[in-house]
Amino acid sequence: MKMSKYQADEKGYYGEFGGAFIPEMLYPNTEELRQNYLRIMEEPGFQEEFRQLLRDYVGRPTPLYYAKRLSEKFNTRIYLKREDLCHTGAHKVNNTIGQILMAKKLGKNRIIAETGAGQHGVATATVCALMGLECIVYMGEVDIARQAPNVARMKMLGAEVRPAKSGSRTLKDATNEAIRDWINNPVDTHYIIGSVVGPHPYPDMVARFQAVISEEIKWQLKEKEGREDPDYVVACVGGGSNAAGTYYHYLDNEKVGIIAVEAAGKGVESGESAATSALGKVGIIHGSKTLLMQTGDGQITEPYSISAGLDYPGVGPMHAHLFKSGRADFIPITDDEAMAAGLMVSQLEGIIPAIETSHAFAIFDHRQFRPEDIVVINLSGRGDKDLQTYIDYFKL
Ligand SMILES: Cc1ncc(COP(=O)(O)O)c(C=O)c1O
Repeated sequence: MKMSKYQADEKGYYGEFGGAFIPEMLYPNTEELRQNYLRIMEEPGFQEEFRQLLRDYVGRPTPLYYAKRLSEKFNTRIYLKREDLCHTGAHKVNNTIGQILMAKKLGKNRIIAETGAGQHGVATATVCALMGLECIVYMGEVDIARQAPNVARMKMLGAEVRPAKSGSRTLKDATNEAIRDWINNPVDTHYIIGSVVGPHPYPDMVARFQAVISEEIKWQLKEKEGREDPDYVVACVGGGSNAAGTYYHYLDNEKVGIIAVEAAGKGVESGESAATSALGKVGIIHGSKTLLMQTGDGQITEPYSISAGLDYPGVGPMHAHLFKSGRADFIPITDDEAMAAGLMVSQLEGIIPAIETSHAFAIFDHRQFRPEDIVVINLSGRGDKDLQTYIDYFKL
């Protein structure tokens, strides 16, 4: 099964990271999924339905757009992979389409999910409406307030949004609630995890569903530039699903540089940050061994970022391994840098990015590229959900 030293082995390990550290009560659920996911994903009927929905419902392939004015500004060749143009406004729907088909194959009729920015919640509520399945989304109270448009969308789509009221009342806490629900409903429920986090096989399964991003970049770049491989692929990392999809088909090609952008919040050393690679130590969160922000005695540190989707104290095990092995270059970006970059892209390219994505556009103040370099940035989502935060920040 292992295709590369950067992908999961059969126990779900990426180097020393990954695995399935779960309470006994969750074992039947994850084991059922582990035993079946690869077989189901490889069935021609599954692939056909997955591809057809990605094409006709999600709107794939998404364009690979040469950002002319941005390229001129930074004197390099910048392409944007337009995941913001996916139905529902972000890459998250690639994964929820895959997992809803998986849930149906496994005979599940109740769907739960966690969400931070609300994009994964909306993408889950959307596919549940599409398939006529019950949908419950857990979301931190803080995120319910700062991503209000997405909460309204989930309700409109027929989902129930349940607030998580513990801890920092953000993504970590919503994930805790979803896991608790799953333990209590082991038979009829499928948990659609929204990133490359959680116990094996989730990180591998979600990465495979998102791999369509780099699959498309390869042939689109070949059409535009006569070569499949850019010099760099760049993505923001919350749990790491849009990044995993962007890197996937380039992981073993060391000529392609991998840049991962993390949320530094108010600064890496400010005590209000979510820069996991800089601050994290080996630990276990949500069933996976990974890098994790924690106190000296192993208590999880409450993270902070202006972007709900990057406000998580861990990172998926693939990314922990990419960091530890040196394969990827991790760059922390502060709230202020991300907001300024979001405004810059809006006014240079006419595209308002999600605040998560805006972090990725701030790298040009930290890294210099050659004029002939091709840099592909994954534009993971659109900024509609963040308008109020942009308005408040810039006093628009
Ligand atoms: C637009 C967008 N980009 C990125 C992320 C971060 O998630 P991930 O790291 O799994 O791609 C989110 C999460 O909600 C998001 O909405």
